[in-house]
Amino acid sequence: MTAKRILLIVGGGIAAYKACELIRLIRKAGMSVRCVLTEGGAHFVTPMTLAALSEQPVHTSLFDLKDEAEMGHIQLSRQADLVVIAPATADLLAKMAAGISDSLATTLLLATDKPVLAVPAMNVRMWQHAATRRNVTQLRADGVTILEPDEGPMACGEYGPGRLPAPEAIMVAIHAHFSRSDVLAGRHILVTAGPTHEPIDPVRYLANRSSGKQGFAIAGALAALGARVTLVAGPVVLPTPPGVTRVDVETAREMAAAVDAALPADAAVMVAAVADWRTEISAEKIKKTGDGTPPTLAFTENPDILATLAASPARPRLVIGFAAETEKLIEHATAKRARKRADWIVANDVSIDLMGGETNSVHIVTADGVESWETLPKQAVADRLAARIAQALA
Ligand code: C5P
Repeated sequence: MTAKRILLIVGGGIAAYKACELIRLIRKAGMSVRCVLTEGGAHFVTPMTLAALSEQPVHTSLFDLKDEAEMGHIQLSRQADLVVIAPATADLLAKMAAGISDSLATTLLLATDKPVLAVPAMNVRMWQHAATRRNVTQLRADGVTILEPDEGPMACGEYGPGRLPAPEAIMVAIHAHFSRSDVLAGRHILVTAGPTHEPIDPVRYLANRSSGKQGFAIAGALAALGARVTLVAGPVVLPTPPGVTRVDVETAREMAAAVDAALPADAAVMVAAVADWRTEISAEKIKKTGDGTPPTLAFTENPDILATLAASPARPRLVIGFAAETEKLIEHATAKRARKRADWIVANDVSIDLMGGETNSVHIVTADGVESWETLPKQAVADRLAARIAQALA
């Protein structure tokens, strides 16, 4: 990864300030970054900011003699390993789709022979406008990778999809781009991730601390190896990794149904922290009694999605479970592997790495024994596991 070079085009939008953090993250990942700032972008961040953060000259004009003498625009367009546009405005997308080259950024985009990753950010109506929809479809057909914008409150006061994804999510897409291959092409892999919520009444639910990060990273890593990935996700606020089909669910029973509906699959990686129990759901909000008597919740066991899948006639060839334990990790994981008829159990000690963190220390329990990995960022655990899955399915 160390030698990778990014050409970052910063378009004109309020989200341009997030490009500053993105530059920091790109460099932290060991890649170099050279910035092109559009005229619009320069209204939101200064060339000085980008130059200081990237420690590279910033290019702004097609007709800057000094710029052209140092590095011509054609060379600039060819020298990077990946061109990233963040934020990609409606205007930039439209000009790219039409092949217009009326500025340094648009000329580079027309002249480049390198892959392009566009990260749009714009007002929700602009994003949803028929013209933008058309341009996005055209650009995707042309081979441009376009991330979906985030949904949320916008700087203009409106609400909807159009926000620039977090710089961390853009980094995931950049990493995915560089680790892309097709060793899993033609395979369908099912991944469950996140917690489940079990409602108690219309306003309350039982949940757990699962963040979904590890499962989402695994889904993304498998897609990057060319697999068709169905990600059945419990309630989490995480961006869908590029190339992954996501099915959102709330409860364990909904997750079980979604897993069933997604079959057949070549492999299943069950990362979700499924609630073991559910309660009867009160139709009305449970009220305090006034005399201090607490309500009684009657629990019913939820279906074990992993065990059911592993015992079913539609069992994927490779079934992988996770085991988060606070004690006797290997012993419990080994027993779980047998009990649930999983091929592998990925055991992680949640007494060290509390759920929700950025790293994970895991042990892979298989028929051949236990393989312990050093503590790694969740993305690295995902990449390694995806590579091992590819090997097993080969
Ligand atoms: O029994 P435990 O919850 O520790 O097992 C963890 C493994 O089983 C994980 O892979 C989890 O996704 C899966 N599981 C499941 N359905 C359940 C409970 C756990 O698929 N109801």
